[in-house]
Amino acid sequence: MTDVRSQAVQYAHENKNHFLAHLKQLASIPSISTDASSIEDIQRAAEWIANRLRSLGMEHVKIFTTPGHPIVYGDWLKAGENKPTVLIYGHYDVQPVDPIDLWISPPFTPEVRDDYIYSRGVTDMKGQMLVALDAIEAILKTGPLPINFKFVFEGEEEIGSSNFSPFLEDHKEMLNCDVAINPDAGGLSPDIPCITYALRGLAYMELRVYGPDHDLHSGGFGGAVLNPAQALCEIIAGLHDQQGRITLPGFYDAVRPLEPDEKTELARFPIGDAYYLKASGAPALYGEAGFTTIERLGARPTLEVNGMLSGFTGEGQKTVLPAWAMAKISTRLVPDQQPSEVYDQMHSYLEAHAPKEIRWELIPMHGTPASISDRKSKYIAALSKALEAVWNKPPVFKREGGSVPVVVCFKQILGVETVNTGFSMPDDNMHSPNEKLHLPTWYKGIDAFIHFYFNLAD
Ligand code: BES
Ligand code: MN
Repeated sequence: MTDVRSQAVQYAHENKNHFLAHLKQLASIPSISTDASSIEDIQRAAEWIANRLRSLGMEHVKIFTTPGHPIVYGDWLKAGENKPTVLIYGHYDVQPVDPIDLWISPPFTPEVRDDYIYSRGVTDMKGQMLVALDAIEAILKTGPLPINFKFVFEGEEEIGSSNFSPFLEDHKEMLNCDVAINPDAGGLSPDIPCITYALRGLAYMELRVYGPDHDLHSGGFGGAVLNPAQALCEIIAGLHDQQGRITLPGFYDAVRPLEPDEKTELARFPIGDAYYLKASGAPALYGEAGFTTIERLGARPTLEVNGMLSGFTGEGQKTVLPAWAMAKISTRLVPDQQPSEVYDQMHSYLEAHAPKEIRWELIPMHGTPASISDRKSKYIAALSKALEAVWNKPPVFKREGGSVPVVVCFKQILGVETVNTGFSMPDDNMHSPNEKLHLPTWYKGIDAFIHFYFNLAD
């Protein structure tokens, strides 16, 4: 290890508590993007990050307002033109905390228990974001940064990043870079580091089913009209066949099959069915026949019901035949499926299969295609070497089941590839109560980013 590297790594090891204190500060801010009452906290989180960038000596730090939540920019371009410029991406917004009763410690009072820190947003993705900045701090203690940096941190990832692509369009010059780095793509296990080369896309929609024009007495009308809740359930039940395949017409036509070497790589995964059984707490696993769980999670599309609403759900009982029912439905997409095509397929499906006794309405919501990146790029090689230096073993290459819409925007608008990685674990309770971050892995992540930045300069 060259001297500056080992000094930076040593600094990181000696400053774990200081980095943890920063994470606690940021995680204490309830920056819930979907929640209108969080608007001031969103602003506070953006300011916290802008201040962190400034205190690191980053330049041109600015909070850009958008029609939604602000975007924080900063840069440091003094490494010279012959060194690469990397664009670090992050999102400072978090998911809502409900059901709040299930949290062991309050969601915005970060608490360390054993090897974990618990708080909303620590793993998705405030902690991941700070890895990239803490590594910069460590390097700066030993000398100048080896590469040029730009930073773009948004506050709307958890609600679909809808103001992000217009921002990229308007600031192409400012954001011009060689590669983007996204540490929001998740890891796999504390023992084996991981690089994500594909993320699934998303087509989200709301399906409403209308029956009678008002709620009816279920005795007075049950037997006379079709219950919209029943109709909705029949529709939903028909969306998968006995093999767990999705029945939308043409749904699989655009699905790119896994290449043989990808199958081999996915089979090398350190986790499998037993892990997902335990992590989910479900009585059994379920999915499309003919594929392993890991393949289904990353490389195959799925359809989920995120929630349903109809009729009386309060305490006690009420005999009622509801006037309407609705479900929030999403499909996770893989290359080369397009969200707009999926909405059309859903439309065709409903035209053919929805019961004639009801009216339905399909409302398309957030849509983003999947992304897949080059596993052989020199940037990936630089990260791979960095991870290997810390873990003493090469990373596995993962297709992630979740989505990070901006990766597609970086490619389409800025024309750059994104390196996706992260140090979260599948059982970190992302989007659930008791979200947590595995601290030993997090600290290793900081070391890895120190190496990564130096490797990028070579
Ligand atoms: N960090 C997640 C994506 C993710 C999930 C990475 C699991 C690794 C493992 C991200 O913040 C997220 O939740 N994305 C949303 C995007 C959606 C709102 C457009 C998702 O995947 O549901
Ligand atoms: Mn998330």
